[in-house]
Amino acid sequence: MGGHLGEQPVATYLEVPNPTATYPTHPDAQFPKARGDAITGDRYWSKEFADKEWEKMWKRIWHVGGRVAQLEEPGDFITHNFMRQSVIMVKQKNGGIRAFHNVCRHRGNRLVAVAEGGVTDHFTCPYHGWKWNIDGALDWVQDEEDFPQGSPCAKLRMKEVPCETWGGFIFYSFDPNAVPLLEYLDPLPTLLKNRDLSNWKRVVWRTLRVNTNWKFASDNFNESYHIPSVHPQFQPMIDDHYSTTIFEMYPTGHNRMIEKLQPSSRWPTSNQVMELWADVLKEWDLDPADFEGRAQDARIALQQARRKLGPQRGYTYFETLSDDELTDQFHHTGFPNLTMTGTPEGLHVFRTEPDVEDPNWSTFDYWYIVPVIEGRDEVATLYGMRPYAETTQQTGDFSAYQAEIKQGDFLTQDLEVAVTQQQGLHSLGHDDAYLAEQETRIRRFHEVINDYIEGRR
Ligand code: FES
Ligand SMILES: [Fe+2]
Repeated sequence: MGGHLGEQPVATYLEVPNPTATYPTHPDAQFPKARGDAITGDRYWSKEFADKEWEKMWKRIWHVGGRVAQLEEPGDFITHNFMRQSVIMVKQKNGGIRAFHNVCRHRGNRLVAVAEGGVTDHFTCPYHGWKWNIDGALDWVQDEEDFPQGSPCAKLRMKEVPCETWGGFIFYSFDPNAVPLLEYLDPLPTLLKNRDLSNWKRVVWRTLRVNTNWKFASDNFNESYHIPSVHPQFQPMIDDHYSTTIFEMYPTGHNRMIEKLQPSSRWPTSNQVMELWADVLKEWDLDPADFEGRAQDARIALQQARRKLGPQRGYTYFETLSDDELTDQFHHTGFPNLTMTGTPEGLHVFRTEPDVEDPNWSTFDYWYIVPVIEGRDEVATLYGMRPYAETTQQTGDFSAYQAEIKQGDFLTQDLEVAVTQQQGLHSLGHDDAYLAEQETRIRRFHEVINDYIEGRR
């Protein structure tokens, strides 16, 4: 679809599921619809609402705890703190991973205080020295004979929580009756099946504390309506216009948006090859001048060039990607707090989590996960070139955070409006959002939260 759409009087959308799609789709995909529940400001700042989210939703969903690659040997473990809870995920002797509440069942001491580490066989409680086996058994206690009710070793195990993996991610749930992970995530694994995520490496891991409610990120990734004003630098090569974008939602509460890599159809410049777009074309031996006046046609040419030149340049993983996946941005939002954007270069993962005390604050994690490009030991990231190796966590405050990206730092741009929106949401003058149709997934997201809170899920 070419040309600018300035004069188009009626909103038009692509059919869902897209009947001509060459990329993975799912029969359950629907064009986004919502009931019409109001999105009131208190959802973002009221402690009472946050408590309901904890009781009815966070205790039931699957959480991302980390990456499988963090656990190499039996006894290697990571911990993940969420609200007042803490979970240990530990590698077993048989190669599996089990997850336990991070608490000693003697008198409730938190067992492990660090975010990651390794033990030989046991977690030893720092208080009275009880030794908990990495498989959850209690193997040794001091003065075992002094328990008239019977030795605790025979009676107690660490409390286990469901733990499963997909795509190299470790997930756990606080719900002992959680549905199997793949059922919960459906159809995201199907939609991302052309990417061998289990073997990709996490080369960026930034954790920021942000003065906004956790739902900001889900809302924000559920629309591209903010791109022209917040990220104007994308105009030459990301088509944010709704008429060229695929919008899908699924019964499980997850959804997807696919944006084409081409100049934005929103502007009269859509047929011009501007700087960023020209750079990408040149990199793949295409002459920008050939596409002057028909710049969007370069998208197909770029797919063909990557298909042809990719393998000899070390991009062997292109083999399993469909043509559209060689150019376009596949934004998946996993309910409630996980965003996975697949591009031809890698997977951008965002996870936001609520603050323990204050709904006005959250923790924002950004992970960049990439496939190997054969013959290279470095990879381009938002923060410059990085070694092709598993990275460690970098933490900080948003106010202290600076990126080093040429095309403008879209994360900082998003986080800046996150903070001002959080302020505005307290206003007595705000009672609901007034949404464009292309933002329907936002209302739908809040409705799925309501479904949990009000007992419909
Ligand atoms: S609380 Fe852990 S050994 Fe006493
Ligand atoms: Fe954004």
